[in-house]
Amino acid sequence: MSWEEEFEAFKARTKGSAKAWASAKKVMPFGVNSNYRLTDPYPLYMGRGKGSRLWDVDGNEYVDFNMAFGALVAGHSHPVLVKALKDRVANGTIYGYEGDEAAPLAEHMCKRFHVDRVKFSMTGLDSTLFSVRLARAVTGRRKVLKFEGCYHGSHDTLMVSIKPAKERSGDAKRPNPVPSSKGLVPELVASAVIAPFNDLDATRAIAEDAADDLAAIILEPVPMNMGLVLPRPGFLEGLRRIADDTGAVLIFDEVKTGGKWYGGAEEAFGVRPDLKVFGKAIGGGIPLGVVGGTAGIMDQTVPGQVAHAGTFNANPLSITAGLVTLTEILTPKGMRHAQRIGDALGKGYVRTIKEHGLFMTVQYKGISGTVHFSYHPVVDWRSFQDVDVGKWWAYDTAMKNRGIIPMATGPDEQWTTSVAHTMEDVEDHLAALDEVAELIKRFQEAIPLVEAV
Ligand SMILES: Cc1ncc(COP(=O)(O)O)c(C=O)c1O
Repeated sequence: MSWEEEFEAFKARTKGSAKAWASAKKVMPFGVNSNYRLTDPYPLYMGRGKGSRLWDVDGNEYVDFNMAFGALVAGHSHPVLVKALKDRVANGTIYGYEGDEAAPLAEHMCKRFHVDRVKFSMTGLDSTLFSVRLARAVTGRRKVLKFEGCYHGSHDTLMVSIKPAKERSGDAKRPNPVPSSKGLVPELVASAVIAPFNDLDATRAIAEDAADDLAAIILEPVPMNMGLVLPRPGFLEGLRRIADDTGAVLIFDEVKTGGKWYGGAEEAFGVRPDLKVFGKAIGGGIPLGVVGGTAGIMDQTVPGQVAHAGTFNANPLSITAGLVTLTEILTPKGMRHAQRIGDALGKGYVRTIKEHGLFMTVQYKGISGTVHFSYHPVVDWRSFQDVDVGKWWAYDTAMKNRGIIPMATGPDEQWTTSVAHTMEDVEDHLAALDEVAELIKRFQEAIPLVEAV
């Protein structure tokens, strides 16, 4: 099939989505409620999900490897969760008081993720926001070191240098803080200290210069908003030492990584930060955010001194979802299953790419992985910028035509396998990849990498 035929086929099978988008745009700017969902020629509108499958409004069935940007390691509507939530909904979804299941969930999380205390909130966004406030409160300092290319949620404190354009980013060893949205207060942007991921010497130099006023170092231990970037051996350990030497609070944003291994990133890399932030997968598809950490820091959330509040925080619906998801679905056995599937998918990609001589680099670990349309490995934001966005788009569209959502939306994202995926799902995914490989090779269209925040 030529690319033109492929594109026409996509439009022919997704007429319902085109129509839904046209209506949505009239009442919701750009027709989406998270800018990251906007794609060309229009976003898919979905009607139903179950297990590893999604059905769009035209009734097309997809094997889903987006899994809601990593939020569905439990799969869509896991039957155990559905049953528990039905009971929950029938007996009150929010009390305006504490319920008695939050403490058992907190105990489970403390043990599982090696933290002394947790505080519940609703999303990744409000959890990373709280973690930074807490770090500033306990240190009495203002600055936060974050890494170029990393995303920590759509809030002003950390909306800096998420996808900065080359011409604004400055020296690779001393990146400029670049605002990621209009509407940010310059003083807040200037409070972000930007460092290059995987470059320990440069990070140490930057952190030491800011040390007097450095409240926190925040990072995804495996950055998953520039594809999937593995930390170089010793990098996380080095950051631990830098935080200790400068007195900054080390925060791991585990909104994604927390759902990739049973015990989160600490299980995979053996480094313990002071605070860990969780979201996405822990709620099994229901909003749930968590900040956990040492008693010394967490206990300073003293009412009247450090604000932590939210009408929906620890609501019984989210808490039941978290408890059932973590204790009955994302068990060690469940995680091993998802990892076996992820491993088979990653290996299959490496094989297929080699067979077709494709211009792609596969980076995967555990249940997630990605293809970077680039010959060289991606180790940081600067190396990510060479990725061919046009080829990614052709790949995503052609795979969808074959009933596979290959990964989350965007060349900066990754696939997620879940407890619901099977080896047959992997075979279908790889068969589709094999079919579209030559088309991707031929496809040439320069599409700029834009910041979708
Ligand atoms: C690493 C990371 N942190 C925080 C967030 C924000 O989470 P939420 O979208 O639930 O606010 C995201 C969302 O994609 C994320 O990937």
